[in-house]
This record gives sequence, structure tokens and C-alpha cells, in this order.
Amino acid sequence: MRQPVRIAVTGAAGHIGYNLLFRIASGDMLGYRQPVILQLLEITPLLNALKGVVMELDDCAFPLLSGVHATDIPEDAFAGADIVIMVGSRPRTVGMERSDLLTVNGEIFKTQGIALDKVASTHAKVLVVGNPANTNALIAASHARRLDPGNYTSMMRLDHNRALSRIAAHAGRPVNHVRKAIAWGNHSSAQFPDLYHAVVDGINANQFIHDSDWVEKEFIPGVQNRGTEILNARGASSVGSAANAAICHVRDWLLGTPEHDWVSMGIRSNGSYDIPEGVIYGFPVQCKGGQYSIVEGLEVTPFMRQRMDASYRELLWERDQVRHLMG
Ligand code: NAD
Ligand code: LMR
Repeated sequence: MRQPVRIAVTGAAGHIGYNLLFRIASGDMLGYRQPVILQLLEITPLLNALKGVVMELDDCAFPLLSGVHATDIPEDAFAGADIVIMVGSRPRTVGMERSDLLTVNGEIFKTQGIALDKVASTHAKVLVVGNPANTNALIAASHARRLDPGNYTSMMRLDHNRALSRIAAHAGRPVNHVRKAIAWGNHSSAQFPDLYHAVVDGINANQFIHDSDWVEKEFIPGVQNRGTEILNARGASSVGSAANAAICHVRDWLLGTPEHDWVSMGIRSNGSYDIPEGVIYGFPVQCKGGQYSIVEGLEVTPFMRQRMDASYRELLWERDQVRHLMG
């Protein structure tokens, strides 16, 4: 029997938490042979609700669930964690941009960034879901001393999956016939969803679709604004698709990306594609042996450059707003 993997999840009694935990415990994230221990963090007033979630996890009798620990103390939740999924934070409401959450949520990622660096396993891999995810991840990573700041990532996978789904629908092909979409930049309406390198049935998607009007007027703004569209329709932000994207992100990081494909992850910029160091930016990556690497050498046209740079500038602006929270 394999050793259980310790997975800390913050905001565990929230909407995304509720959609995430049962899938992790069932084996959807790390595979159906890997036991897991869940270490769940909530704010004190939600501890009773979290107790109810734990009762439900117990009642599933998941064979892979080796233990569950619920707490309102960050150091307890992160102790020895191999994987940390940071969801706990306020979601936006109708009329807000994600960056409007910087002041209410940023502080959480300072406090918890400090706590997790103290007690998590030294090889811990961190996924930030709470918005604005890229800058919250930057705040948490800035407090990394024991841990590798390169292991702090933000979720661009929902945007990536949204792009795949739109390309498939427009091409009239099943979604598993589409590969190599990219969500560049920030998880915001200034991201750049890119189908110029995507492939549908082995043919470049742009040639396959052959419809620049659709790409520029529907595909790009459609992916950029999908979160808002869902928020307006549901009266609450995305949940099921967000939890699914978190599962996909961690699964592919740990278990590897499929051959001849890549995924989008928010990771520390390192100068690749002329995006300077100092922000967490969505890049195309391939993962192997638990490590990600940026897919290098893709062509960047002036049209793409303009959009990639606009997203970078927005991330710089966000960083300026939270300098006081960074280590
Ligand atoms: P929610 O309000 O249903 O749940 C959030 C939970 O976090 C609550 O239970 C709350 O008590 C808890 N929480 C708040 N502060 C905390 C703290 N300091 N420590 C621990 N827990 C804390 O919200 P949700 O729908 O689950 O969304 C959570 C976050 O995920 C939001 O910021 C939302 O914008 C973001 N989100 C990101 C993406 C993405 O693609 N990156 C997608 C969807 C949602
Ligand atoms: C999304 O993209 O659906 C999430 O970031 C939630 C939101 O606020 O839009």
C-alpha cells in the first residue's frame, strides 16, 4: 500500500470546497491507487458546517481516504502537507472585477503563506484558487523561505478548459479532439486565450476554423468574460467547473501531462516569452515527474504580443496594490 498524500484545502466548507473534497477523496485527482489524508481549514464560525462536510466524507466510506482533520488553525491544516489547495477567500459578486477582491483577500494569503512555509512539507506543491488568484499566489510565494517559491502556482486551468470547449464547439468536433489551447497571463478579463497554436484533429485550429472575426469578436472575449457571464446567470461565481479545474491542475502537475499536449498554469515568470520575472503568469507548460516546464519557442505575433503584454501590465498593477503584504 502506498503512503497517503497529505492534502490541505482551505475554505473547505465553501462552495468550491464542497465540490472538490469528494472528488479528491474518490481518487479523481491523484489516481485510484493513491490514499489521501485531507487537512481542512475554515474560519471559526464555519467549523460546525465543516463538521457536517466531514460527516458526509465519512459516510462515503471512500477506500482511499485514510484520514480527515478539520481545523481553524492554519499551522494545523498545513502541517506536513504535500499539496496545498488555497480556496478560502471571498468570491466576487455581480458588478465586481476579481481585482476588487485584492484588499479583502490579499491579507489571507499573507497570513497563510507565512503559516504554510513554516510547517508544510519542504516539497509541498501549492495551487491558489482564491481570487485574484495570480496575485494571491504571488503574495503567498513571497513568504516562502523553506519552500520553493516555484512551487506556488495559480489556477489558469479553468480558462484553458473554457478555451478547449469553445474551440471544439465551433469546430463541431468532440472536445477530446482539441489540444494545445493556452490561457496566457492573468486570470482576469485581461487574460489572452490563444487558439493560434491549438490543434483540432491534427490541424492548426486557426486554419481549421478559418474565421478571424469569430476568433477576435467571440472566442477571445468569450473566454475572457466567461466568469462574469456565469456570475450574472447564476448570481454566484463558478463552482463545479472551478473545482474540476483544480483537480485537473493538480493531477497533471503531479501525474504528468499527456504526450503531444500541454496545459496552462499560473507560474513564476522567468523571462520566457519576454515576460519579466516578478509576477505569476499563465504559461503553457508540460509536466513530468512532478515538475512543470514552460513550452518554449512558440511563435508570438504582434497581435498576441499586445495582449500578452497588457495582461502582464495588469499583474504589475495588482502587485503594486499589495506590496505591503509581500515578504
Ligand atoms: P465560498 O464563499 O463559497 O467559499 C469560500 C470559503 O472560504 C468560505 O467557506 C469561507 O468561510 C472560507 N474562508 C474565508 N476566509 C478564510 C480563511 N482566512 N481561511 C480559511 N477559509 C476561509 O466561495 P467559493 O465559491 O468556494 O470561491 C472561493 C474562491 O475561489 C473565491 O475567491 C472565488 O473568486 C475563487 N474562484 C477562483 C477561480 C479560478 O479560476 N481561479 C474560479 C472560481 C472561483
Ligand atoms: C471564474 O472565472 O469563473 C472565477 O474566477 C470566478 C469569477 O469571479 O469569475
